[in-house]
Amino acid sequence: MSIRPIKRLIKAKPTLEGAGVHLRRAFGFGNTSEFDPFLLLDDFRNDIPSDYLAGFPWHPHRGIETITYVLAGTVEHGDSLGNRGAIAAGDIQWMTAGRGIIHQEMPKGDQTGRMHGFQLWANLPSSLKMTAPRYQEIKAPEVPELTDDDGTVARIVCGEFWGKRGPVEGIAADPIYVDVAVPPGERKRLPVETTRHAFAYVFAGDGKFCNASGPLAVPTEGVGWADTAPPKEADNRSLVLFDSGDEVEVQAGEDGIRFLLVSGKPLQEPVAWYGPIVMNTQEELQQAFQELEKGTFLKS
Ligand code: CO
Repeated sequence: MSIRPIKRLIKAKPTLEGAGVHLRRAFGFGNTSEFDPFLLLDDFRNDIPSDYLAGFPWHPHRGIETITYVLAGTVEHGDSLGNRGAIAAGDIQWMTAGRGIIHQEMPKGDQTGRMHGFQLWANLPSSLKMTAPRYQEIKAPEVPELTDDDGTVARIVCGEFWGKRGPVEGIAADPIYVDVAVPPGERKRLPVETTRHAFAYVFAGDGKFCNASGPLAVPTEGVGWADTAPPKEADNRSLVLFDSGDEVEVQAGEDGIRFLLVSGKPLQEPVAWYGPIVMNTQEELQQAFQELEKGTFLKS
């Protein structure tokens, strides 16, 4: 058994997306090869409705899958496949854009105006970039929740963890996506297959991942962002990128720690990315935008 050392500790950056939604981007755009097969992780957590109600009106995607996991409030959505509905707290929406989908995602807060959710983008391999679009919605009660002897709770969004499989199926990057809560003061080891890229995103409490103190506070991002100085420990909104190994270790702080633990097998393919469309070559990218202009983007 070898514990994965930490490669980087990054603070999520304030970002304005969609029609004016204030969110935090943990990673995305720029060089994301260390996260391959994942492209982006957004944390849309907000207590001020005017900062998110403008939402993400109709826009296209091609070549990727987007995974939305809601913790508070709801996200109303609609897409060109005819799906309409709302994802509520604890629900998961998995959208395979494949050769093309046009959708909208409109966050609505809960009674107190609070909104919290995550969107992860997983890349599709070249062989599946033009696959048929697909949509899966999983309601909160269908998401397996496992509790270990020490009180650690794992909700399995996708993939297999602690011998149990999550409900989202048929995902190209074969991700394992778990929402983990470790009780105050506990030290916990969690398995992550060696062949995978893996990261954790902390969204409640704090703690230390493996040897996350001292020399690991390397400023790799956040230059110029006043409130995004590299964290010394993995506190709220910290992204922890792991190096290779087959386990991660976390020491929970006095309030415990809750984080997303995500891993996937790298695709190792060229990435041509503009906005919501991610292909392998510039030609494919140009073709997608030409089709959008001509109105031939959606294929039946
Ligand atoms: Co979208």
